[in-house]
Amino acid sequence: MKCGYKELLMKIQGITEDIPYKIANLANISAILFENMDNTNWAGFYLVEDGQLVLGPFQGKSACIVIKKGRGVCGTAWEENKLQLVENVHEFKGHIACDGASNSEIVIPLHCNGEVVGVLDIDSFKLANFSDEDAIGLQAIVDYMESKNIWM
Ligand code: SME
Repeated sequence: MKCGYKELLMKIQGITEDIPYKIANLANISAILFENMDNTNWAGFYLVEDGQLVLGPFQGKSACIVIKKGRGVCGTAWEENKLQLVENVHEFKGHIACDGASNSEIVIPLHCNGEVVGVLDIDSFKLANFSDEDAIGLQAIVDYMESKNIWM
């Protein structure tokens, strides 16, 4: 990574603080993650709309637009309300391959008033690219987003 998670969180706080525009904030957060994380080919958000996950701001190749609850890594993170750290996406039953280059993935649910309102999704072309350290660092970023109701 080009910087530590503490610095990454500070960059995100700096660029989103007092900005009331959801799309702008999610777009900038995905850009910061994409620029700074190693071996990443996709970073962005899916947001719960009409009872399904719908593609939100992201960096990377064009991606599938709608993901149903329980489908793929993103829909599983939503259904189980649990961070998914997938070392090899080809071994994940039902993985949705938006970018054929992806080999590992991490997905973290985003909450508002106790409900999942979306997910942060990051893909890597490298197998087992994400560690527990990434899970903790990215969860801290999601916690900040939740505390600020950043996507409202
Ligand atoms: N791989 C995801 C789909 C979204 S793309 O990675 C951008 C999944 O299985 O849910």
